[in-house]
Amino acid sequence: MVDQRVPTSVPFPTKSLDRHTELSNLLELVTGSLLEHVAEADAANAARQSGRRNGIIPNNQAAALLPPEIVSQRLGLSLSEKPQGKNGLVELTDRLLRLSVNTWDQGFMHKLYSGTNPVGVISELILAVLNTNLHVYTVSPALSVIEKQTGRALARLFGLSGPYSGGITQPGGSASNFNSVLIARHRAMPFINEKGTSAQQLVMFTSVDSHYSLEKAARMSGIGSQGVYKIPTDSEGRMSVPALRKAILDARSSGKHPFYVNATAGTTVRGAYDPIEEIASVCKEFGLWLHLDGSLGGSAIFSGQQSWRLKGSERADSITINPHKMLGVPVTCSFLLGNDLRQFRSANSIDAGYLFHEESSKVALQDAVANNTDDTYDLAELTPQCGRKGDALKLALGWVYYGRIGYERYVDKAFDTAAYLFSLVEMHPRMEMAAVHHSVQVCFYYNPSSAEYEHKVAAKRNTAITAYISEGLPSKGFMVDYAPGPVGKFLRVVTNGTTTNETMDSMVKAIDEIGHLCIM
Ligand SMILES: Cc1ncc(COP(=O)(O)O)c(C=O)c1O
Repeated sequence: MVDQRVPTSVPFPTKSLDRHTELSNLLELVTGSLLEHVAEADAANAARQSGRRNGIIPNNQAAALLPPEIVSQRLGLSLSEKPQGKNGLVELTDRLLRLSVNTWDQGFMHKLYSGTNPVGVISELILAVLNTNLHVYTVSPALSVIEKQTGRALARLFGLSGPYSGGITQPGGSASNFNSVLIARHRAMPFINEKGTSAQQLVMFTSVDSHYSLEKAARMSGIGSQGVYKIPTDSEGRMSVPALRKAILDARSSGKHPFYVNATAGTTVRGAYDPIEEIASVCKEFGLWLHLDGSLGGSAIFSGQQSWRLKGSERADSITINPHKMLGVPVTCSFLLGNDLRQFRSANSIDAGYLFHEESSKVALQDAVANNTDDTYDLAELTPQCGRKGDALKLALGWVYYGRIGYERYVDKAFDTAAYLFSLVEMHPRMEMAAVHHSVQVCFYYNPSSAEYEHKVAAKRNTAITAYISEGLPSKGFMVDYAPGPVGKFLRVVTNGTTTNETMDSMVKAIDEIGHLCIM
């Protein structure tokens, strides 16, 4: 019986199998708006490069200033009973674009990712058309092969060259870090998956500057926040190795079971790289799993000039890298790499005959270990998730199109532009670095309080100026975030491979204009 509530003139998924025509029509309808969104970012970039006033395209960052009630009102999302058809789709698309922050604009320097590139968009389109799932090989043969090959190529770049080395994608850096804890936990206590938690308290080590996902991973894996020893950093934000050694010894002598150390390659705020070689030696001495959280800074491996920062990465048991951060690959694209993927499988594999049709996953795993093979292409066997998107394609397609050398140039440009901004801050009479400059982040205060103020008052004043500037920047076409520092919060600018020196010049000018109003 026909549903009377649905007008028959409205296209409906079950009505026609002429879907390619419908897709073609809809693509045609929205393509103009999508291209305009990117064109506005390009126009702003061109304006900045020609030195025109700040290169502002008001809509590019302005949505950041709107409260949720206004966005909700302007968006006008109506999840109605009746179909709204093409008009509804096109109008909502237009309003959505208008009310979004334009990450393609160079003014977007707020977070550790940026807008993607044309190849990134194509890769998302391919994945959308394929709409497949990388839990088992049968339904995603080509994408599974691409994930295996891309993971292996990445692992090789880091020097993980063992016969079972490789990598798998995860839905983000936090998820990659979480899986690394699960795998290390399983190595430390092979009975854990069957019997649950043990009487022995597992403890792990990571620096005070590391990402919160490590502590979350500890919570989710039954280790708990108290099982995470936060190791102090030196004045440059790198983990103190003597303090790490001492913490391991202390934990041992109080009856705890150390099993895992995370070294960060590119900390979230300051961009510091922990001393991997030295940490690896400590891990070896105590038989601990070494994980490298290179979510942000791991991409420096693509650059001949910057890869020295990752010296010692070949000694890691597992490595996280997020191409969706420093490489401009679409969000999300994150890999967990390892020197022995059999360990990934041992920790994550579970019998599920309705999905994995190797006679029995357990038997297949035992066979794999006994025969020293790791040829599983049912990639959900290596991760906590079941259904998985083909995120590896997004890195692989860009690699094909731009070459490794393209990614290298992209990384180098981001580092060079950050260094240029650093020099501007150093020369500026009212700006002062808040942290040592390492990577693609530049952290600084505007007109920081001098010694005449007591620390608490100075911190309050600095935080107020920083917040005022950060909130004022979107109306000038920029978005810059801030973070806690030694004397209150400071501005943190994150550059990417498209950011130019001219953008830095105009941003410094904009900061000065807003900051001046605040300190007058
Ligand atoms: C060092 C580091 N690790 C992990 C993450 C988490 O990555 P994701 O946001 O993809 O979960 C971040 C995010 O900023 C990070 O900076």
